[in-house]
Amino acid sequence: MITNALKVTNLVKDFGGLTAVNNVSFEIPVGSMVGLIGPNGCGKSTTFNCISGMLEVTSGEIEVLGRMTTGKRPDEIQKLGLTRTFQHTRLWRDMTVIENLLVPARSQFQPNMLLSLLKPNSRPAESRRIASAFQILESLEVSHIAHNLASELSGGQSKLVDIGRALMSDPEFLLLDEPVAGVAGPLAEKIFKNLKSLSRDKGIGMLIIEHNMEFILRRGVDHIIVMDNGTVLAEGTPDEIRQRNDVVEAYLGTGARN
Ligand SMILES: Nc1ncnc2c1ncn2[C@@H]1O[C@H](COP(=O)(O)OP(=O)(O)OP(=O)(O)O)[C@@H](O)[C@H]1O
Ligand SMILES: [Mg+2]
Repeated sequence: MITNALKVTNLVKDFGGLTAVNNVSFEIPVGSMVGLIGPNGCGKSTTFNCISGMLEVTSGEIEVLGRMTTGKRPDEIQKLGLTRTFQHTRLWRDMTVIENLLVPARSQFQPNMLLSLLKPNSRPAESRRIASAFQILESLEVSHIAHNLASELSGGQSKLVDIGRALMSDPEFLLLDEPVAGVAGPLAEKIFKNLKSLSRDKGIGMLIIEHNMEFILRRGVDHIIVMDNGTVLAEGTPDEIRQRNDVVEAYLGTGARN
């Protein structure tokens, strides 16, 4: 039985003279929801890019859902059950929300929309996909904007649709790069609440990048990994992280322990 959705061992990523990720190791058990936090430029997105196969690692090993993926292409890794979203959402602006979900998820890695739309699809399979796209939009509480153009959406709505698109590939594990960045308080709460129910109801594991430590500490993730300057500074349950004075002082100031 697979116990880890993700296992990263001694991951290093250099960009010329800069070591963006410096010997990072962590494990994420199947089905758990984990926050990855840390200041600007500490290597969070680079870690995601290595895990999803978009960047070649300098050294180290990555296992996704029990399979070694170091050196594999993004589409091969996605086939194993890992899907990601990007810090800056990549929706097709001239398409409607529902169309954005129906463009096969693999095009997030190799955008060849025309080819994917021309691909023969049996009618029943297509209707099932449309039904499941609507179901996903409903679960994210955005089905009312299904026929709006992506270019008309607010930042928060775009984030939700982007998550919806990731869910279309029926992932077992999701990497979410700042899914609530730039989203106003109540909608950020709603996105998080929806992510939590998805994780709970469908058993989808998630690693969620978030800048705001206070926000993630209060959102009931199972575990938190804190990065700083390319390394893992601390990890533990939200309560354990709250007790780490070095982390709290570096990121939150003293108010967070109350
Ligand atoms: N493709 C690249 N080429 C060169 N340097 C890069 C590249 N991608 C990232 N970096 C550098 O690597 C470091 C880590 O960047 P990264 O994007 O992983 O940080 P981050 O933790 O996601 O930050 P933020 O919270 O601002 O999104 C930064 O110094 C960045 O400038
Ligand atoms: Mg980033």
